Amino acid sequence: MSSSTTARSDELIFFVNGRKIIEKNADPERMLLSYLRKRLHLTGTKYGCGTGGCGACTVMISTYEPFSKKIQHCSANACLIPICCLYGAAVTTVEGIGSVKSRIHPVQERIAKCHGSQCGFCTPGMVMSIYALLRNHPEPTMEQISEALAGNLCRCTGYRPIIDACKTFCKDLDCCKIRENENCCLDLKENLLLSEKGKEICTKLFATDEFQPWDSTQELIFPPKLLLMAKEQRKRTLVFYGERTTWISPVSLKELLELKAKYPKAPLVVGNTSVGM
Ligand code: FES
Ligand code: FES
Repeated sequence: MSSSTTARSDELIFFVNGRKIIEKNADPERMLLSYLRKRLHLTGTKYGCGTGGCGACTVMISTYEPFSKKIQHCSANACLIPICCLYGAAVTTVEGIGSVKSRIHPVQERIAKCHGSQCGFCTPGMVMSIYALLRNHPEPTMEQISEALAGNLCRCTGYRPIIDACKTFCKDLDCCKIRENENCCLDLKENLLLSEKGKEICTKLFATDEFQPWDSTQELIFPPKLLLMAKEQRKRTLVFYGERTTWISPVSLKELLELKAKYPKAPLVVGNTSVGM
């Protein structure tokens, strides 16, 4: 809703890659993608379309769900997420899971070794979509992989190598459904070429036994301080004032309805595919 007030905003507290962020002047019109890139200088998350269509800006958002008392992880388009909705959330970006300076993550390694990255622009988003999938399903099915990557576009690879990389995390590799006593298609002679000297050369694009193992228990944990904060549950309405807009996060349905009656033209922001764009 429009704002002309000079009242003070609440502090916005959230975590990015395990680091606590306290933003004293959270602008309701600021999206997470520009905050990451311009304010925190985390430029691994890419700006593709800016309208939720390409997935280049995908990050993982983790929140504590008070009803199930569980941590929930989901992939999200940072270009559509107002920072004001992140109070109490943990954001994980591609820098948070691995880098060449420390150690690349198995998802990054497998996408690279399976030739799933060419120009590389879509890669951080692909990596984060797969990473969020693995946090929820350490041994995903093909259906879950397809669903997880449905929002990520790639103009270079034709998707096949990216899917190949994902499939290496499946419990059962999806091969040719061989008959008994036959070789698996992944080991067929088709993968061998004869060199000029008549020697067999393997044309397989990658060797799965070279991959780092993936161990879901070694991943970043939900920040313990944030967990404490989330368990206490927010009892107070949060208000963030921007130059043109005010963001109000109510704590109850009753309060939401009262606010809606008071400001009937104020939009409710949930997925933010309308106001955000
Ligand atoms: Fe394309 Fe966000 S930049 S979905
Ligand atoms: Fe170029 Fe995917 S590798 S867009």
